[in-house]
Amino acid sequence: MNEFALLYPPDIRFGWGCRESLAEMLSGLDVEPSKKTLFVCSESACASGLVEPLLHVCGSTASDVFTGVPHDPALEIVDAIVDQCRELDAKVVVAIGGGSVIDAAKAAAVLAPLEGTTADYFHGRRAITGAGLPLIALPTTAGTGAEITKNSVLSDHATGVKKSLRSPHMVPCAALVDPQLTVSMPSALTAASGLDALTQAVESFLSLKANSVSRALARQAVPLLMEFLPRAFLDGSDQAARTAVAEGSLLSAMAFSQSGLGAVHGLAHPIGLDLDLPHGLVCAVLLPHVLHWNASVCGPALDTLALEVALPDGAAFVARVETLCGELGISANFAGTALKGSIDHIVANCRSGSMAANPRPMSDEDVRNMLERLA
Ligand SMILES: [Fe+2]
Repeated sequence: MNEFALLYPPDIRFGWGCRESLAEMLSGLDVEPSKKTLFVCSESACASGLVEPLLHVCGSTASDVFTGVPHDPALEIVDAIVDQCRELDAKVVVAIGGGSVIDAAKAAAVLAPLEGTTADYFHGRRAITGAGLPLIALPTTAGTGAEITKNSVLSDHATGVKKSLRSPHMVPCAALVDPQLTVSMPSALTAASGLDALTQAVESFLSLKANSVSRALARQAVPLLMEFLPRAFLDGSDQAARTAVAEGSLLSAMAFSQSGLGAVHGLAHPIGLDLDLPHGLVCAVLLPHVLHWNASVCGPALDTLALEVALPDGAAFVARVETLCGELGISANFAGTALKGSIDHIVANCRSGSMAANPRPMSDEDVRNMLERLA
């Protein structure tokens, strides 16, 4: 039986230059009287000539800017954004940056009106009970999909736990996906974020929780990403390539947000936290290995994806993913990192919803064997 309930931001806009709609969107929000706005912005985005004008659309007395969100944002960063929201008496949050910036902003927007600390909600001591502040998201990378999802990936360094804080109230009220904002990404970030998007599309397509809508979206995302990522990697100013990759990333997010993911994401969270490596990079290293693991139970699905990229069969598709990762400068394994010493912790912390949705089950022993081969 194919049953699903779809949850997306009510307003998703895509297109070169569509960031210009921000002022109109803000003026349309029903948050009278002050409409004071906190911008949560990556430092590189703030300095960009494309983003800087957006920070002034509310006028200087009606807005403030929070910068300094690192990758794998910690609970304390969310607390700091909440504090700034309260000091400003913000009624709206606008997040402009990569997945970490948007995730931290989403958590802060929903928690700002609530009692307690981020840790209380992250560890389940309190529940998110209301809609929070409306949030508009403008991604400056093409990969994570944070601009449309209901979760925020956060890290508690005190307990060594990286996981999602989730609530339907965390879905942004609007997403402005402007590929022009991704033009200044350096090539390594283009590769890692784009391969995160590809991982999400492929894992969504293969997920045990996939439905007809998520499969249709994932199937469209895969060829856009596989064909155009090498072009965007080689020439960041290639408008057609940036647009196709951003579109593939959005479709990938619209797919996985409804279907869940798989073992790459299940493993990527504890590995990223333990090795202090960016999420997209970890996904990109893992993707070929997990595809090889899944191939024995996903033959027809991989054959379908192969057709989308004009390859003869699923084996050729997996081989192409492997060569693509190599062409984009991704290592074949985690050699040279501290992975070996973290295997016990990763095995103990990988049992998320993503692992449960993987088409071929992985026991703790299976995970351990894979990690030992990759260390
Ligand atoms: Fe991801």
